[in-house]
Amino acid sequence: MNESSVLDQNSNRVPPPPAPRLARGVPEALQQQIKSAVHKELIKRLDLDRLADFSTTRAGQQQLFGVIQQLLGEQGVPLSSTERDRLAQEVVDEVFGLGPLEPLLKDETISDILVNTYKHVYIERRGVLEKTGITFNDERHLMHTIDKIVSAVGRRVDESSPMVDARLTDGSRVNVIIPPLAVDGAILSIRRFGSKPLQPEDLIRNQMLTEPMMEVLRGAVKARLNIIVSGGTGAGKTTLLNCLSGFINERERIVTIEDSAELQLRQEHVVRLETRPPNVEGNGAIKQRELVINALRMRPDRIILGEVRGEETLDMLQAMNTGHDGSITTIHSNTPRDALARLETMAMMGDVRLPDKAIRAQIAAAVHVIVQVSRQADGTRRVTHITELTGAFEEIISMNDIFLFEKKGLGANGKVRGRFYATGIMPRFSEKLLAAGIALPLSLTGHSLEIG
Ligand SMILES: Nc1ncnc2c1ncn2[C@@H]1O[C@H](COP(=O)(O)OP(=O)(O)OP(=O)(O)O)[C@@H](O)[C@H]1O
Ligand SMILES: [Mg+2]
Repeated sequence: MNESSVLDQNSNRVPPPPAPRLARGVPEALQQQIKSAVHKELIKRLDLDRLADFSTTRAGQQQLFGVIQQLLGEQGVPLSSTERDRLAQEVVDEVFGLGPLEPLLKDETISDILVNTYKHVYIERRGVLEKTGITFNDERHLMHTIDKIVSAVGRRVDESSPMVDARLTDGSRVNVIIPPLAVDGAILSIRRFGSKPLQPEDLIRNQMLTEPMMEVLRGAVKARLNIIVSGGTGAGKTTLLNCLSGFINERERIVTIEDSAELQLRQEHVVRLETRPPNVEGNGAIKQRELVINALRMRPDRIILGEVRGEETLDMLQAMNTGHDGSITTIHSNTPRDALARLETMAMMGDVRLPDKAIRAQIAAAVHVIVQVSRQADGTRRVTHITELTGAFEEIISMNDIFLFEKKGLGANGKVRGRFYATGIMPRFSEKLLAAGIALPLSLTGHSLEIG
């Protein structure tokens, strides 16, 4: 093969630039053309088996980087060394990684990557959504990247299965939905979990909740109360669940059940279970309910269910009521009262039909604490309620708010102003805490903290 000009043998010859424009740099469109020409040539020259070798070692990658640099040099376009380095990196990202998403994936400060068709990529950083200048070349390019992600975990996405949940090797959660369900083109959403999950002290520092509130929750976990974390999408439910799970004693056997394993528990004795979607023929799905039932046979000390969302609810409530106390889960709802209503509706979804009254009694007996989290207008997450259930009277479940967050408006800097405070009620569960050796200080009832 003629090494001197890569593109002479190709039909996709890059048109020569009008004149060297070193001072202002090579136009972006031309750079993109050069990049895809080099990419194609690279694939042609290296056989794919060797490509795998390259990707595994640092030396291999550097060697490849050198080859790409050389190919770029052969294009006959005067690129500056910065441009050349950048393009070479982009080609490497395209070949081994997820193309334009690679720089975003390397940035630890990004928590969500949202690809809205190939034309727009948004990110969330420290709770705030922003648009990036990153785009894919076209729909095919985006679909190719999506295929790479889902095929790596043995899933596929096409017209017959146009929605897929998957997980990246770093634990990030991925959702893909393509046309015709997504009207304007393929949509990819990535929720990233930093290498180090947020810890209780991080949540206190971010003012998601105050130290005394965290102390009460820590006591509640230690005293084996059943806790439900309630909140809207992206409100921080899983993050808080993860922190609460961290308070569980090392000596206990924990079984976690999730649709897509996100929890990162620090304890050693953890058994992680994950549901399975149906295969292409629509068979073989394993649902949360089956895993809950199976988990009960595994001699768990604690069951952590990532989110109650359906027919497993009744089984979970029954488990909480029959000796598997200390269970923690999350639910998608906007107030603690709402959470109860949703629990009730979902408990009716199973095949066992119980009268409303019986279901309510089950809920009242099973759930001890509801922690409400919410995402505020400024992107921060706050615990707005820590509420205890105190029983059922005439079919109405009674609740006491122990801590609340009161919003007082927006500050000049756009930050939400407000106050965390104790309602003054000493929780009834303080007796259970005491029995577990945890004494809540009386000063707790006067707790108040202004923020913003
Ligand atoms: N207290 C916090 N401070 C900063 N970032 C937070 C905090 N809580 C959550 N986040 C971030 O918000 C994003 C959403 O959090 P998380 O996954 O816990 O929400 P969720 O309610 O479980 O969402 P979903 O409804 O999608 O399951 C994550 O990127 C997480 O890192
Ligand atoms: Mg979650």
